[in-house]
Amino acid sequence: MELLRVDPSDPDPNAIARAAAVIRRGGLVAFPTETVYGLGAHALDPRAVERIYEAKGRPSYNPIIVHVASAERARDVVQEWNEFAEQLAHAFWPGPMTLVLAKRPEVPDAVTAGLPTVGVRVPAHPVARALLEAADVPIAAPSANRSMQLSPTMASHVVASLGDAADVILDGGPTWVGIESTVIDVTGGQVAVLRPGTITLEQIGMVTGAPATIGPSATGDAARPSPGMLDRHYAPRARVVLVEASDVGIRVELERARGYRTGAVVITASIESGPDVERLPNDPAVYASRLYATLHALDDAGCDIVVVERVPDAGAWLGVRDRLERAAR
Ligand code: TXA
Ligand code: MG
Repeated sequence: MELLRVDPSDPDPNAIARAAAVIRRGGLVAFPTETVYGLGAHALDPRAVERIYEAKGRPSYNPIIVHVASAERARDVVQEWNEFAEQLAHAFWPGPMTLVLAKRPEVPDAVTAGLPTVGVRVPAHPVARALLEAADVPIAAPSANRSMQLSPTMASHVVASLGDAADVILDGGPTWVGIESTVIDVTGGQVAVLRPGTITLEQIGMVTGAPATIGPSATGDAARPSPGMLDRHYAPRARVVLVEASDVGIRVELERARGYRTGAVVITASIESGPDVERLPNDPAVYASRLYATLHALDDAGCDIVVVERVPDAGAWLGVRDRLERAAR
C-alpha cells in the first residue's frame, strides 16, 4: 500500500497520475470525496470491482455507487436520462447526491449487485475530480471501510479499517460534508430518497416540482436492496445509545457506575465536560461534518458505550438522524 499526501484543493498531478494508472489496470485506490473517503475501482472491470467486495467484506447483494467526472459522463453508464435526473443533476452536481437510474448493459452486475439500476454520482472534491479525469473511466466506490463499520472522513480512518487492502491511498485531509451522499431513485416517474443525506426533501421538491418521498419507490422492485437498509450500519465499535437531552447526564452516570467506559456526544444537554464528552454545534451541516470523526475518536479512546443526544426531527437533520438511528440498532 502506498500513501500519497495531496493538497485537497490543488492535488499534485503526478500523484493523481499514479493513482489513475492503478485504477486503469484494475487496482484499488482510496480517495477523498466531499462526503467520505471512497474505495475506488474501474467500474467497467468486473474483476477490479470484485476486489472491492473482498477488501470490505461487503455482502454481494449491496450495490456500489459509480462516480463519474460530469453529468455528460453519467449518461455513459445509464440507459435513460430523464427530466428529474436533469433537474437534480443541474442543481446538485458536482456534489453529495447519487441518482439511481436504469443501467447500461456495459455496467457489470458486480457493481449493481445484479440490479437493473445503477447509482451514479459526480463528486465535488477536487481530488476525486482530478482522479476521475485522469483515469478517464467511471470509478465504482463504496465508502472505504470494512462493511458495517463507520465511514472514514480521514485517511487515517481508512488505514485503520482496511489496512493495506488498497493499493494506493490518496490522503487529502478531512472531508467536509461528513456523511454519505443523498441517494435518490428517479426511475418510474417519481422521486424517492433511498438514503437521506445533507440535501433536504424540501430542496429536492423545490428543484423537481414533485413531492419527494422517503424509502423505496412504490413502483420499484420490492426486493430491491435500499441503501444502508442493512440492519446495523454506519456504526462505531462502541455501542451507541440515543437519548433525549435531559437524560444524557443520568444515562452516562448509570453506565459508568456499571463499569463501562462511557462517552457522550451532545448538542444542548448539560453535562460536565471531560475527556470522553464531545459537544457538537446545533447546526446540522457542521454536526454532520464532525459526527464520524467524533465517533472514531471515542472508539479510539476505548469507549464501550457512547450516549448520544437525540437530534431534532427537522428537515436538515434527516441525514444525521438516519445515521444515528442505524448506528444505535
Ligand atoms: O457519499 C457517498 O455516497 C460515498 C462516497 C464514497 O461517494 N459512497 C458510499 O457508498 O456511501 P456505499 O457503498 O457505502 O453506499 C452506497 C449505497 C449502498 O447502501 C447501496 O445500497 C446504494 O448506495 N446503492 C447503490 N446503487 C444502488 C442502486 N442501483 N439501487 C439502490 N441503491 C443503490
Ligand atoms: Mg458504506
